[in-house]
Amino acid sequence: MPTDYVRIFDTTLRDGEQSPGATMTSAEKFEVARALARLGVDVIEAGFPAASPDDLEAVRRIAAEVGNPTDGSPVPVICGLARTTRSDIDKAWEAVQPAAHPRIHTFLATSEIHMQHKLKMTRAQVVERVREMVTYARSLCEDVEFSPEDAGRSDPLFLYEVLAVAIECGATTLNIPDTVGYTLPDEFGALIAGIIANTPGIQNCVVSVHCHNDLGLATANTLAGLMAGARQPEVTINGIGERAGNTALEEVVMALQTRRPIYHLNTGIDSAQITRISKLVSNYTGIAVQPNKAIVGANAFAHEAGIHQDGLLKNQQTYEIMRPESVGASQTKLVLGKHSGRHALKMRLASLGYDLEEAELDQVFVRFKALADRKKLITDADLEALISDELYQPRELFSLDGLQVACGTMGMPTATVRLRDPAGLMHVQAAVGTGPVDAAYKAIDAVVAEHVSLLEFVVHAVTEGIDALGEVTVRIQSQNGVHTLDAQKEIDQPRTFGGYGADTDIVVASAKAYLAALNKLLVATGKYGPAEKASMEFVTQ
Ligand code: KIV
Ligand code: ZN
Repeated sequence: MPTDYVRIFDTTLRDGEQSPGATMTSAEKFEVARALARLGVDVIEAGFPAASPDDLEAVRRIAAEVGNPTDGSPVPVICGLARTTRSDIDKAWEAVQPAAHPRIHTFLATSEIHMQHKLKMTRAQVVERVREMVTYARSLCEDVEFSPEDAGRSDPLFLYEVLAVAIECGATTLNIPDTVGYTLPDEFGALIAGIIANTPGIQNCVVSVHCHNDLGLATANTLAGLMAGARQPEVTINGIGERAGNTALEEVVMALQTRRPIYHLNTGIDSAQITRISKLVSNYTGIAVQPNKAIVGANAFAHEAGIHQDGLLKNQQTYEIMRPESVGASQTKLVLGKHSGRHALKMRLASLGYDLEEAELDQVFVRFKALADRKKLITDADLEALISDELYQPRELFSLDGLQVACGTMGMPTATVRLRDPAGLMHVQAAVGTGPVDAAYKAIDAVVAEHVSLLEFVVHAVTEGIDALGEVTVRIQSQNGVHTLDAQKEIDQPRTFGGYGADTDIVVASAKAYLAALNKLLVATGKYGPAEKASMEFVTQ
């Protein structure tokens, strides 16, 4: 690899998916992995196979299919996370092995606070465990990444020692995590420079940086690490992740691109796909993107002030440091309409990267026709919303069969819902609420009978115009505990789940989003059949 090439390591499906409410179904994870490959990421951290059999299976499918493209596109490395235990490493290997380029990523904490209080291990024991487990991982897989967890608060001299052992035992990438988002850019840059200068053997390895955003410095710290010689930033789409999140892929890629004369670094990312994948991840996780979020927020390229608009008309560069097209932000192409046929839809979806089975295409075509009756022109963004709403919903335990609302200023907002339950029985329920959405949610609650609180409700229009599709994302929290695997032990604790819905009627979209989140919760509780997923909320040794 040329020294100016930066490998983009995406951990949306692992560190991102660990954030509260970001749980994705296996089908959603697979679609995100495919989109990441199309985007051009070099390494996809597809999950934490030891967390549950479903996580292992999801990583395995991604390794087998996304890790072996048949269309001549670049082959991403598929990586699985493992604690430094034989059983975790075995599971990670089992999951990533089918990929053309598999990687095992193993980690152990090196800060005093983690070693004393969490691991209850001495420095010598940590060094020994790293020696043993990196050697073991390397005996299985040629590509091994090691991370000293909480490196940002670790003694640098101890880090040099641990990293040197990992290199001696065959690690090929050394990742330096600021696990709790504590460091400042100058400090983190100096830490990376110190590691590169003082760790024997490091010149033959890739140095990686993994920053969390607790002080809002994840991107600044990552860029400082790259400036100091790191060549692999670990990032997530929209910066999702534990607590305040991880470093956002789009911010690092666009900073390197926009300020190339400063960094002189290149990536393999096709930045025009950034907006699209940002929406995909937001829809699947139910985690809305804040409007003023850099690069992918709804207002990132909006200019309201008259003085700005005047400047832009005279010369775009007066107030724009990047073109919206460079991140795919202006892709509201008018593509299809009422008279477009099944073939036209299939071709358009193929050009957007969706290769649907015949039955899936039939399903989407029915929705497309219904939408085309209500909306004159259907854009790429509308199609993406339809696909998310129609194909990539969680297993439908309860489904919406009908909804009727009465609202306005003349009486009490009332909603009547007709829901099909997992046994196929139909339930009709009416409720009053503070508004039509509240009333619909109360009616759904009366049927589903699950105690949840609504943490977040976000609605926005997919495109402009009165006939636009409305997208709704919600996050709910279970009031009763949901069985969760927390590294060592299995516990019951409240968990959050996200849901997404799209429709030209926003009350219908709201009901669908709420049901999608409820269905995810019900699947996780295992109430209606075996639990599909018991994702870890927090990865600890
Ligand atoms: O933040 C962290 O330390 C991690 C490691 C597992 C790399 O996510
Ligand atoms: Zn992390």
